[in-house]
Amino acid sequence: MAAASREEIACYPTIPSATLRGAGASLLLYGVILHGVPAARADVSDAGRQQFLTSCGTCHTTNRDEPPRQGPNLATVFGRRVATLPEYEYSAALRGGNWVWNETTLDPWIENAQAAHPGTVMNYRQADPDKRRLIIEYLKSIKEASREL
Ligand code: HEC
Repeated sequence: MAAASREEIACYPTIPSATLRGAGASLLLYGVILHGVPAARADVSDAGRQQFLTSCGTCHTTNRDEPPRQGPNLATVFGRRVATLPEYEYSAALRGGNWVWNETTLDPWIENAQAAHPGTVMNYRQADPDKRRLIIEYLKSIKEASREL
């Protein structure tokens, strides 16, 4: 035992300090992955959900079994092709569209729906990029959560 620890001590100076710093960094990263991220994600989702309810909730629900409101149900919209819910009557501006809703397509849409897809009946604009990001992350997170069910 004593011999082993002497050997360990003797080994330390031969480990380049960069390696030690690297090891420290990956330990730190581990800590973030194991503990930090789930907490951070929960915060984002809560803030995102609030922002969604405030900005979109009058016209959209994300409760899976709820019928559409003025706009279609968005529970599974992230990663979904545009205008594909059979129970919702989309406008011609979206019907026959050929894109998938993701970060790239949602951002200009909620920044200014009528500019992004002229003729749509969604009359909505959100100028604040942070609010848009929160909403998009929320839609992504509920889609991912539903996949895990
Ligand atoms: C004033 C009501 C209203 C608000 C507020 C609103 N929407 Fe909409 N939304 C609609 C309507 C109506 C449609 C259908 C548009 C069409 O058919 O042209 C729609 C369609 C959509 C679609 C297309 C879904 C699909 O199945 O292809 C997405 C995505 C969407 N809205 C996201 C949002 C998000 C995110 C917000 C909040 C930032 C929001 N909307 C705010 C009314 C609204």
